[in-house]
Amino acid sequence: MPTSAADHWAIVPAAGIGARMGAERPKQYLPLAGRPLLLHTLDRLLAAPRVAGLVLTLRADDPHWPALGFRADKPLHVVSGGACRAASVLAALDELARQLAADTPLLVHDAVRPLLHASDIERLCGQPLDAHGCLLAMPLTDTIKRADAGGRSEATVPRDGLWAAQTPQRFQLGVLRTALRDALAAGSEPTDEAQAMERAGWRPRLVPGRRDNLKITVPQDLPLAECLLAAQQCEDG
Ligand code: C5P
Repeated sequence: MPTSAADHWAIVPAAGIGARMGAERPKQYLPLAGRPLLLHTLDRLLAAPRVAGLVLTLRADDPHWPALGFRADKPLHVVSGGACRAASVLAALDELARQLAADTPLLVHDAVRPLLHASDIERLCGQPLDAHGCLLAMPLTDTIKRADAGGRSEATVPRDGLWAAQTPQRFQLGVLRTALRDALAAGSEPTDEAQAMERAGWRPRLVPGRRDNLKITVPQDLPLAECLLAAQQCEDG
């Protein structure tokens, strides 16, 4: 039984519009087993004993969030996101930096990964926290092809050492804030926090994650997520 204190804060960037989903509302508000994806995600993070509170970044004109009437039993702050994911996360970091020490551990997690399992959070939070940080990821198992301009396979890329990054990604507040701020100032738009850290010279530790930590991206991911949710409910009783 983990007995560690609630020493982490979570950040959930949810200011995207989910264009690849082609739905009538941003994908984080689409239903999974009758409940918006975002609420599954928030429930799982807020239920983690290591999480003290959460910052949610939303589009400034988001009409969907207030309509949900969500009430958390831990502190939850809402801030306005930016033009890209990194800018949204930085807005949350700026908010937290006003109240928390620079070495506070953070978990940054995609709003659209609603199946995050408690065991993944515990494994990630159980890693020694140094300035490099760490992230959940999966070693690639498929054979990887590089396409030519015509969409034909022109080469097979050796998959040794290749991983698919997941979230949560866990970093110290101050180090991540500097890395994201510098990346954005240089015109780079990192697609995850680890990319900003790598750019700054850090080497985040890759921590094997569960395969069911699915990122909902295209319409066919939703029925798949419903099956995975049912499987988790059987597994966890
Ligand atoms: O677009 P993508 O699927 O990579 O988005 C990953 C996460 O980043 C989503 O939770 C999305 O809402 C968030 N995001 C954001 N601000 C943006 C763009 C994306 O918070 N400007």
